[in-house]
Amino acid sequence: MSLLTSRPALVVGRTWLTADIVSFWIRETILARTVDPGQFLGVRPGLGPDPMLRRPLSVADVAGNRLRLIFQVRGRGTEMLARAKPGDYLDVLGPLGKPAPPLDQYRLVVCAGGVGAAPLLYYVRRMKKRRHTQVFLGARSKERLILVDEFQRTGVPVMVATDDGSAGYHGTVTELLVNRIRVQDPEGTGKKYGAQQTGGVKRLVVLACGPKPMLAELVCRLAPFPVWGYIEERMGCGTGICYCCALPRRDGGYTRFCQEGPVVLLNEVIL
Ligand SMILES: Cc1cc2nc3c(=O)[nH]c(=O)nc-3n(C[C@H](O)[C@H](O)[C@H](O)COP(=O)(O)OP(=O)(O)OC[C@H]3O[C@@H](n4cnc5c(N)ncnc54)[C@H](O)[C@@H]3O)c2cc1C
Ligand code: FES
Repeated sequence: MSLLTSRPALVVGRTWLTADIVSFWIRETILARTVDPGQFLGVRPGLGPDPMLRRPLSVADVAGNRLRLIFQVRGRGTEMLARAKPGDYLDVLGPLGKPAPPLDQYRLVVCAGGVGAAPLLYYVRRMKKRRHTQVFLGARSKERLILVDEFQRTGVPVMVATDDGSAGYHGTVTELLVNRIRVQDPEGTGKKYGAQQTGGVKRLVVLACGPKPMLAELVCRLAPFPVWGYIEERMGCGTGICYCCALPRRDGGYTRFCQEGPVVLLNEVIL
C-alpha cells in the first residue's frame, strides 16, 4: 500500500550508534500502522523544500506509533537530517516500495554489511517464525558494528565479522558466510539444504543489505542459492516515474528498485 502524501513526523529520540551512524525515533501514527519490512520513506529535514530530493531511508523498526530510522551521514542531505533534535519535525513520504517477501518458510540467512543491518532488524523482528534463521553482521571494525545486541534479543543466532579482526571473525562478512555454508555443503550444490523444499530439508535463502559490491559477491559466491537484497543505491523520484533507479535485468528489461524493490531477487538483475 502506498500513501503518497507527505506528513510531518515529530522527532522523539536521537542516539548516535557510531561516529557517523545515527538512530532516530519519529512519531507518525499512519505510517507506523502501515509500513512493512522492506519499505522505505522519502525524508526531508524540516518542513521546507530543501533539499529538493527527499533522501530514501529504510524503516529499521516500529513500536506503537513510532518508527525508527537508522542512517549513516554521507553528504548534505543526511547531514541536515542528522542535525534534527527531539521536538523538531521531519517531512516524510511513504511507505514507498514493496514489502520484502516473507521468507520464513526457508532456512534463512540474513547478511548485513555496516548500516545495512538497519532494515534487516525490522525484517527479523517481524518474522512469524525465526527458528531456522541465522544472522551475519559485518563492519570494518568493532566500533562500526551496530545492532548486535538487538539482533541477539530476537533470539536468533548472530555471527559477527570485522575486516580488522577487532570483533568476531577476522575478514569480511561475505567470507564468513560463504565459509559457513561451505562447511555444511562442501560441494556447493545446495543439495545438503535441499534444492527443493522436500524431505523435511528446508531450502536455504539469503536476505542481504549492504554495499553493492557485497551484494554482487554474495550472488556470485553463493550460486545456486537465491539471494534477495535491499538495493540502497542512488534514487531520484522514489515513486517509479524517473527511471533513474532502473537496474538491467538478466532476461532483458529493467527493474526500478524504488517500485519493484527495494528488495529484489539479486540473481535476476545485473548489479
Ligand atoms: C531504498 C533505500 C533505502 C535506504 N535506506 C538507508 C538506511 O536505512 N540507512 C542509510 O544509512 N542509508 C540508506 N540509504 C542510502 C541513503 O539514502 C543515502 O546515503 C543518502 O541518500 C545520501 O544522501 P546525502 O545527501 O547525505 O548524500 P549526497 O550528498 O547525495 O552524497 C554523498 C555521498 O554519498 C553517496 N551516496 C549518495 N546516495 C547514496 C546511496 N543511496 N547509497 C549509497 N551511497 C550514496 C554519494 O555517492 C556520495 O559519495 C537508502 C537508500 C535507498 C535507495
Ligand atoms: S527513483 Fe525514480 S523511478 Fe525509481
